[in-house]
Amino acid sequence: MQQDMIVVLDLGSEENTLIARDIRSLGVYTEIHPHDITAQQLKALPNVRGIILNGGPNRVVDGVSIDASDAVYQSGLPLFAVDHAGKIPMSLANWPEEETARKDILKQFVFDRCNAQKNWNMDNFIADQIDLIRQQVGDKKVLLALSGGVDSSVVAALLIRAIGKQLTCVHVNHGLLRKGEPEQVVEVFQKQMGANLVYVDATDRFLSKLQGVADPEKKRKIIGAEFIRVFEEEARKLDGIQFLGQGTIYPDIVESGTKTAKMVKSHHNVGGLPEDMQFELVEPLKMLFKDEVRACGKALGLPDSMVYRQPFPGPGLGVRCLGAITRDRLEALRESDAILREEFEKAGLAGKVWQYFTIVPDFKSVGVRDNARSFEWPAIIRAVNTVDAMTATIEPIDWEVLARITQRVTHEVPGINRVLYDLTPKPVGTIEWE
Ligand code: XMP
Repeated sequence: MQQDMIVVLDLGSEENTLIARDIRSLGVYTEIHPHDITAQQLKALPNVRGIILNGGPNRVVDGVSIDASDAVYQSGLPLFAVDHAGKIPMSLANWPEEETARKDILKQFVFDRCNAQKNWNMDNFIADQIDLIRQQVGDKKVLLALSGGVDSSVVAALLIRAIGKQLTCVHVNHGLLRKGEPEQVVEVFQKQMGANLVYVDATDRFLSKLQGVADPEKKRKIIGAEFIRVFEEEARKLDGIQFLGQGTIYPDIVESGTKTAKMVKSHHNVGGLPEDMQFELVEPLKMLFKDEVRACGKALGLPDSMVYRQPFPGPGLGVRCLGAITRDRLEALRESDAILREEFEKAGLAGKVWQYFTIVPDFKSVGVRDNARSFEWPAIIRAVNTVDAMTATIEPIDWEVLARITQRVTHEVPGINRVLYDLTPKPVGTIEWE
């Protein structure tokens, strides 16, 4: 490992991630570890230059007051405590809220006291991970479910660099992807990067399972279960796979909880693999925050459209083609969504709006087309901004942009005769309609 490391010790503070992010922004690598880290665990961490005890014995978590382990106090490493009574000479009652003030304090500790080197950057990270992946995998084979989302795409690019043809990527096209997405996965990974890619067009299979199913939760369950089934079938066809690549990222681990945080949710990017298929996981992004994952993807040469891809739900267009999915309505959805994306791109909104897409409901309204009565579906535009997807606000879109989208969608997309703009923030409305 090339990077120096500062450990942020989790003593129940809600600011662990913030502090870890601040330190990384100073060019120094950092990891969050549980308060009861043992001497052995601490020794196993490479290049630790100092420890920040974040939180303190006066913090009570789940009814228990917590303190750092003796290993920390006896480590001989420079220590810095925040919200932590006694024991440590270098301490502070609270982090300043203001970012510059906080970073000034961190700079003093990290550079002056710990003498940490500013060597956290993507080139070093990639070089380290290539070594680590090669050490872990040896001459064995790795399987990766490549959805085309940011995380799985970056893992794929990194694994291709590290082990080339020892990696097999499986891309399951469930027929509910956006226009051009499966083609892009094949183009980038198979044609440009030369990966072993198994492309499975399972559209018919998914659509027949979904036929007549209108309940959103049932649709989600069918899509999720079928996805695993298809992936398993492909995995069984391959010989000698011992490792499974996963796009786990740092927030997944931090959210899943160190000792002091409650389990928020357990993360299985590829859940439900059968028990008799024993894989060891390869998770090279597990210490990266989302923006670092994107930076890593860029450094590995992935296109911006993949690296800055907006969030897209696992069930894909399936939860935007409302009610029971039909092929013609799904096609109208895919085409209207593509026009929306194109026009947002042209209007400079693509990098500005967090998530934007169209929805096609399963009802029709009367219109006129070519002097005749038409009876067609509406397309609904949803464009929201959010930090954590728990709440969301509406992007105020320029009227002209909306008018242009309306003109194009109603003239270019068969089956659509109206365009609506959803003005509802979350709450009351969720981001998706189903
Ligand atoms: P809602 O609709 O709950 O969505 O406001 C919040 C965010 O989560 C995404 N979303 C999903 N992602 N599987 C996913 O992987 C799902 O079933 C799912 N449902 C919603 C949604 O796109 C938004 O970003």
